[in-house]
Amino acid sequence: MRVPLRDDLVGQEPYGAPQIDVPVVLNVNENPYPPSDELARAMAEAVVEAARGLNRYPDREAWALRSALAEYLGEGLDASSVWAANGSNEVMQQLCTAFGGPGRRVLTFTPTYSMYPEYARNTLTDYVTVPRRDDHTVDAPLVSAAIAAHSPTLVLLARPNNPTGTGIPLDVIDEICAGTQALVVVDEAYQEFSDEPSAVSLLARHGNLIVSRTMSKAFALAGGRLGYMAAASDIVDACRIVRLPYHLSAQTQAIALVALQHRDELLAQVRALAAGAREFESWLAGRGYDVVPSKANFTLFGRFADRHAVWQGLLDRGVLIRETGPAGYLRASAGTPDEMGALKAALDDIQPQLMGERNHR
Ligand SMILES: Cc1ncc(COP(=O)(O)O)c(C=O)c1O
Repeated sequence: MRVPLRDDLVGQEPYGAPQIDVPVVLNVNENPYPPSDELARAMAEAVVEAARGLNRYPDREAWALRSALAEYLGEGLDASSVWAANGSNEVMQQLCTAFGGPGRRVLTFTPTYSMYPEYARNTLTDYVTVPRRDDHTVDAPLVSAAIAAHSPTLVLLARPNNPTGTGIPLDVIDEICAGTQALVVVDEAYQEFSDEPSAVSLLARHGNLIVSRTMSKAFALAGGRLGYMAAASDIVDACRIVRLPYHLSAQTQAIALVALQHRDELLAQVRALAAGAREFESWLAGRGYDVVPSKANFTLFGRFADRHAVWQGLLDRGVLIRETGPAGYLRASAGTPDEMGALKAALDDIQPQLMGERNHR
């Protein structure tokens, strides 16, 4: 029997970067440093404590966690203007559920994060894309013209952008928000790695601004699944309407709280990782690769006539990176110094093959 899948889902593949067990994993922009044994124990103790109450549903509003996240973000925010869910993917899909839907549009600027079309698809929202400038930047005239042309209810702007790493200056965000009634979601998944200040500082000026953040990247908590946003409390309340009840488990809340208390340890490598990515970019440029300037903990580089062959060549040498972004490009996350060494050695090792594969612009 054929299952009665929605027509628009027939033939679709589930999202997912390959999860392959190799020595060097640099494909999903994680922080490569695991928590210390001491911190892992503190998390385990918090889970034991939470387990004592697992016969009851967790705090559906996650007040303690939202207060701690508000305190982390600063700018005088409190829990009523912060919302949390299982990864920022869930936060942004909730936004599309609450503010999108049939007859409504979400606008993005491509190339950008590959999950955005899936939030739209899942929530039956029209998905409209406009290309970025040739250097992958966006600016206020480009965004404003696209908003005028497409009348979206939601605009998704990743800053730094994935997969290009491109930033958006704060004054551009300010101008975009001032010029529209649409909700502007600034996805700052990689904010801690960036040298641009967070758009959280603009929240007091713009009721239509939503800043999405995650603990999956800089915070080294990808497995904990905790994303969050800061926005006006009526936007938070809209997400509370569409969330599933008790969506954040007691364990998730407990672990994320401990992570926030130990933020100094978890964030300790952030500057070194960003510096590692910049150093890798100089190395690539020195080898004649085309490198997209990045403000995040990853780098998009190319151009390869057959990027899949290069990706496979690296994988054969124990290094997993990501086949994503514009044709001919690959993306690598910043790893530990040893991992970056392995990536460079693997690239050099397949260099003779690459010379035939790489196109110089
Ligand atoms: C731009 C961007 N936004 C959001 C996410 C989602 O992260 P999470 O759901 O783990 O918070 C990612 C993950 O790769 C990302 O690259």
